[in-house]
Amino acid sequence: MNKRMEDAFNKQINAELYSAYLYLSMSACFEDMNLPGFANWMRVQFQEEQFHGLKMFDFVNERGGRVNLLPIEGPETNWETPLDIFEEVYKHEQHVTSLINGLVTIAMEESDYASNNFLAWFVDEQVEEEASASEILGQLKFIGDNKHAVLMMDRELRTRVFNPPVKE
Ligand code: FEO
Repeated sequence: MNKRMEDAFNKQINAELYSAYLYLSMSACFEDMNLPGFANWMRVQFQEEQFHGLKMFDFVNERGGRVNLLPIEGPETNWETPLDIFEEVYKHEQHVTSLINGLVTIAMEESDYASNNFLAWFVDEQVEEEASASEILGQLKFIGDNKHAVLMMDRELRTRVFNPPVKE
């Protein structure tokens, strides 16, 4: 891959690892709120983001590029409510979608068809990422400050597990 594409992937690896760090920070905040199910959901999300970063890491190496790990910014550490957290998750995922779209644009401009194909997985993944964040956000908006309903959701989110997607 050429230098422009390589730099863009290196930045995106950093963004994925930052996302992992952000969600782990949210998991810690949910632990502090005594909501272990929400904390678990965020922990799984942390693993998903690490998987995204590693998937790009492997691709850059496979294509003969050079991975350069950049400093990971410190995430926010405190939020007031589950709703505040999910407002941010949804906003963050929309931002990540725009970053992935930016990479696709570079791949097309550079006529890098392999990168373009590879990125299609991430384009699809972002549809799911936004949908799952938006679903939980919608539910939290709906239940408002009904603590009983929040605890019911917490019980449901406790069941989420990380299943690494099978390599195609
Ligand atoms: Fe790696 Fe949540 O997008």
